[in-house]
This record gives sequence, structure tokens and C-alpha cells, in this order.
Amino acid sequence: MRFAPMTRAWAQEIAAWRYPGFYAVYNLGEDSLPELLEGRYAAALGEDGELRGFCCWGAAAQVPAAARQGLYPEGWLDIGLGRRPQDCGQGSGAAFVREVLAFAGRQAPGRPLRLTVMEANLRARKAYAACGFAEGASFVTPEGVAFLLMTAEPRSTECCAQRERSPMERQAKHVYESRTEQIQILMPGHINGARRLFGGRLMEWIDVVAAVTARRHAASDVTTASVDRLVFEAPALVNSTIILQGQVTYVGRTSMEVRVDTFVEALDGRRDRVNRAYLVLVALGEDGAPREVPRLLLDTEEERREWEAGKRRRDLRLQRQQEAF
Ligand SMILES: CC(C)(COP(=O)(O)OP(=O)(O)OC[C@H]1O[C@@H](n2cnc3c(N)ncnc32)[C@H](O)[C@@H]1OP(=O)(O)O)[C@@H](O)C(=O)NCCC(=O)NCCS
Repeated sequence: MRFAPMTRAWAQEIAAWRYPGFYAVYNLGEDSLPELLEGRYAAALGEDGELRGFCCWGAAAQVPAAARQGLYPEGWLDIGLGRRPQDCGQGSGAAFVREVLAFAGRQAPGRPLRLTVMEANLRARKAYAACGFAEGASFVTPEGVAFLLMTAEPRSTECCAQRERSPMERQAKHVYESRTEQIQILMPGHINGARRLFGGRLMEWIDVVAAVTARRHAASDVTTASVDRLVFEAPALVNSTIILQGQVTYVGRTSMEVRVDTFVEALDGRRDRVNRAYLVLVALGEDGAPREVPRLLLDTEEERREWEAGKRRRDLRLQRQQEAF
């Protein structure tokens, strides 16, 4: 998960979220937009770039009526959070809270943390307790809603936060930042006995495009770990213009899946794909050992579809490895 400054589009999405039953008390509306955009809210985004929730801190995380009555002693960092309705009740609440704590806690390092939770929200109380929060003072708003303050010393949440720190702080890059294109004209030296592009030559070009794409994403040296789905869909003949395009489709911790498409470009500019390959490249540190790569930011539907397919291909590769197949 990563956190980004709130935008109007995300704020509008959050304002339209509707929670069932008594959780409807958390429903916001268009009139919340100014507050969501005042600079104390961050959007929580999944690996796929989808909006998963939000968090806020400081006065934005307090119940205004209680703040006016002086029920919030000073010295604490107040944190508030919300998740998109379809993710609630799935048993992943504590993991989300840890992500938020790691992020929001860094807004004021070393300060003890405080959350305000509706007394009736047992699910949230359980998740906060699992993250080291203890229940403290309670109050009832003029509308008759009972709230509890839950507090934690920085150290008791730090251990939760630290477990999540590495993915949180991982740099992230968009797919377009590493996209790579190579252009060739097929010369007699590239041609096999059947007057078509020699497959081995194309594989070399594919490997180079994949390596440059992966290097641009990782900003480090890379090595090719595997090549799969190298499908020759149509031949390419001498004097053709050949275009190779590489883009990162999926990243793990140290590995990147790169898709390389090869097209033949006609004189009128039409492109026909002749090959599609998926390669896995691993980023290497100066010591030659695998090193962490930036996360991948997905901006389009196609990129999200490829990410999901990349996950499945990774599982299949692991299965093949385990079965030595
Ligand atoms: C690729 C290589 C660096 C992986 O090293 P390793 O000791 O297996 O490292 P790890 O087990 O920590 O795996 C590192 C990553 O590589 C991935 N990986 C390892 N072997 C893989 C394979 N055969 N296919 C796909 N991914 C593979 C792992 O899934 C892991 O990814 P993640 O961090 O995103 O989860 C190592 O096997 C190597 O150097 N191979 C030779 C590569 C080479 O010389 N290529 C040129 C070919 S001519």
C-alpha cells in the first residue's frame, strides 16, 4: 500500500462510499469535500493503484464537538482512517491499520498516538487493540453517539509499523517511465535459410529490450532469470521495419516481468504483431545479489489486467519450478 496526497477525484470517490447498517454513520457526502481536500488527508492506494481507503491526522481526526469541549488533551497525534466499504469485514482491518500507523506516525515521529472510535464499532476496536492501542476515556456527542479514545505509546505501534516499513517506503514508478522501443530494418544478415527473420536474432533483440526496460525501472543492473511465452505469431521478411516494445507488467520484490512485443511496420505505418514474449529479470545490487525494485504504479485498465495476468504467470512459473517441469 502507498499513500498519496488527496486529490479531488479520490475525495469524490470517498464521499460517495456507502456503508451498510449502523456503519452508515461513516458515510460522507459532497459537503465533506472541502475537509477531505484541506491537506490533512491522504489517499491509501493498493498495489494496483486503486483507492483502498484514506487516513487523516491532527484536528481532522478528532470529533469536533468533543474537541470544543476540551476532551482531547494535548501532546497526542490523532489519527483517523477509513476503508472502502467492500474491503471491510474481510479480516484485514489490522493490516490496514498498521499501514496507516506507519505512514501517519511519520507525520509527527515520536508522538504518542490516539484514535477516536465509535463505542459500538467492535470490529474497529478489535483491530486497534491488535495494533497496541488501549481503550481510555469515552464521551457522548450531542447527537447521542458514544465514542472511545484509544491511545498507544509510539513504541507499541512502532513494532507493528516496522514490519510494514519496507513496502511502504519502497519507491514506485509508473509503467510508462521504463517503456522502451527499439527499431530495426531487417538486413540479409538477420535472415535464415527460409528468407525470414532468424528466431535467435530476434531473441537477442528481445533480451536487450527487456533488459533496458528492467534497468530503467530498477535503476540498477539486471539479469535475465527466465523467458517464457516466446510465441512467433507470423514471419518477418527481409527489408521489413521491425519495432520492439518493452514494458514492465509485474514486479515482485527483486524481480520484474517484462513483456516485449515485436511488430512489423508496413510503409503506410500499419503494425502487425509477429511476436510476444514475457521475461523475468532480477535487479542486482553492487554485490551481485538480488536487490529490491520500485513498486509498479498502474494507470490504465490494460496495465491492471497485465498485472493480474502477471501474478498468475508468476504462480505458474513457481509451480513449474517446483515440479522441475
Ligand atoms: C536470477 C538469479 C539472480 C536469482 O537468484 P536467486 O539466488 O535464485 O535469488 P532469489 O531466490 O532471492 O530470487 C530472486 C528473485 O528472482 C526470482 N527468480 C529466481 N529464479 C527464477 C526463475 N527461474 N524464473 C523466474 N523468476 C525467478 C525469484 O522469484 C525472486 O523474485 P522476487 O524477489 O520478486 O520474489 C540467479 O538465479 C542467477 O544469477 N541466474 C543466472 C542469470 C543469468 O546469468 N542470466 C543470463 C542468462 S544467459
